[in-house]
Amino acid sequence: MSNMLGRVNHIALAVPDLAVAVERYRTGLGATVSVPQALPEHGVTVVFVQFDNTKIELLEPLGKTSPIASFLAKNPDGGMHHICYEVTDILAARDHLRAAGARVLGDGNPKTGAHGNPVLFLHPKDFFGTLIELEEVK
Ligand code: CO
Repeated sequence: MSNMLGRVNHIALAVPDLAVAVERYRTGLGATVSVPQALPEHGVTVVFVQFDNTKIELLEPLGKTSPIASFLAKNPDGGMHHICYEVTDILAARDHLRAAGARVLGDGNPKTGAHGNPVLFLHPKDFFGTLIELEEVK
């Protein structure tokens, strides 16, 4: 497992209205914000706010079964939704984490994330209340 974990790729914030959030980051903070990207497989529309050392992902629900709808029901103003760690080998990381007793969400097979890389999510109860995304970055 040594050297498997890389950088913090992004921190994701769920927002109730992506256009309002983009405007706040762009105009209020003067941030560079990407074009919105619909990810139907994940039930979200995302943008990335670029920083020198990492990115902030702003998430808005997409579709009726969006996994972040219940989060926004509990946090109507929005809030921190997950943090994404880079790994060099996502299947090795998954197998290692499972052997260590951590739960991988969904069917356990990586999906394609916003950057076109394989991603997995780990159960927040196994990570001290925070949903963890793993993204494979070679
Ligand atoms: Co993410």
